[in-house]
Amino acid sequence: MADRVRTPVTLPYIDQLLAQLARGNAALEQSFGRHIHWGYWPDPGIAEPDRPEDYAEAAERLSLELLDLAGITPGMRVLDAGCGFGGTLACLQDRVEGLDLTGLNIDPRQLQRARQLAQPRPGSFLRFVAGDACTLPFADASFDRVLAVECIFHFPSRAAFLAEVRRVLRPGGALVISDFVPATVWVPMARMARWPALERLNLFGACDVTCSAARYRQLAAQAGLPVTTLRDITRHTLPTYAFLGRMLARGTRRGFGQSLARSGLGMLDWVGRRGLLRYSLLRFDRV
Ligand SMILES: C[S@@+](CC[C@H](N)C(=O)[O-])C[C@H]1O[C@@H](n2cnc3c(N)ncnc32)[C@H](O)[C@@H]1O
Repeated sequence: MADRVRTPVTLPYIDQLLAQLARGNAALEQSFGRHIHWGYWPDPGIAEPDRPEDYAEAAERLSLELLDLAGITPGMRVLDAGCGFGGTLACLQDRVEGLDLTGLNIDPRQLQRARQLAQPRPGSFLRFVAGDACTLPFADASFDRVLAVECIFHFPSRAAFLAEVRRVLRPGGALVISDFVPATVWVPMARMARWPALERLNLFGACDVTCSAARYRQLAAQAGLPVTTLRDITRHTLPTYAFLGRMLARGTRRGFGQSLARSGLGMLDWVGRRGLLRYSLLRFDRV
C-alpha cells in the first residue's frame, strides 16, 4: 500500500498545551513543559498518576531510553526532527559533551519556547530551525544521528521522511525514533483514526498509526536505512493514560471534546494492554 502523503495540519493538543502554559498552568508546566511525549516507568506498578513530578521524571526517562539506543558520543552532529520544546536535546547535552545539535519543528511557537528553555552548553552548539521533517533544510551527509521522538505519525509521509533522513545521514549514521506500531491484525482498525472527520474533531489531530513492524521494515529497506532494533516498551508507558485521564478531568475542556479525548485515551490504553498497538523504539542504520 502506498504511504499516503498528507498536508501538515495544526494539532489541537499543541494549541491547548501552549495556551495553558501561557496561562501559567503549573501542573502542565511540570509534566509537559519540557517533553511533549509519553512517560517511561521501569516498574509501571509504582507510577503515581496524581503527581506531575512523577510524570516529568518518566518523560525524561523515555528520552533517556531513546538516547541509549542512539549511542551518541562526543563530537557527533545530531538532528532532532519534530523536537517539540527541545527537551530531548537538552537532556542529551546534559549527558554528552561537545555536540553539535539541531532541533527542527514545523511550529515556530514551540521553537520560540525551545530557544528559551534549552541554552547551548559550553563546547556544544545548539540551534533550532523551522521546517518540515519531510523536506529537511540541510545538506547531504550532515548528521551522525537523527532522532524523532513520538512525532513521525504526524509527518506527511514516513517514506518521504526516511528518504530525507537517509540523505542527511553520514555513512555509519543512524535514525532512532519512538512510534505507536500496530500489530498486523490491528492495521485495518488503526486506519479508522485517519478518517478526516475524526482527525478534525480529535484532540490529537492528524495521526497515522497504521505502520506495522513489517511495513516499517519494507519502507526502511526501500530507503536504504534498514531497521536494526525494534523494542516494544508499551508496558513501561501505560501509566501515561491514567495520568492524562486525571489531567483531562481537572482541565477546562468540557462536553463532547472532553468525552472524545477521554475515549481516545481509553482506547489507546485498551489496545496497548492487548498488544494491538505497541509503543516502540526503533533504530535504523544507514547502509
Ligand atoms: C508529540 S509531539 C513530540 C515533540 C517532541 N519530539 C517531544 O518528544 O517532546 C509531536 C511534534 O511533532 C511536530 N511535528 C508535526 N508534524 C511535523 C512535521 N511535518 N515536521 C516537523 N515537526 C512536526 C509537532 O509540532 C510536535 O512538536
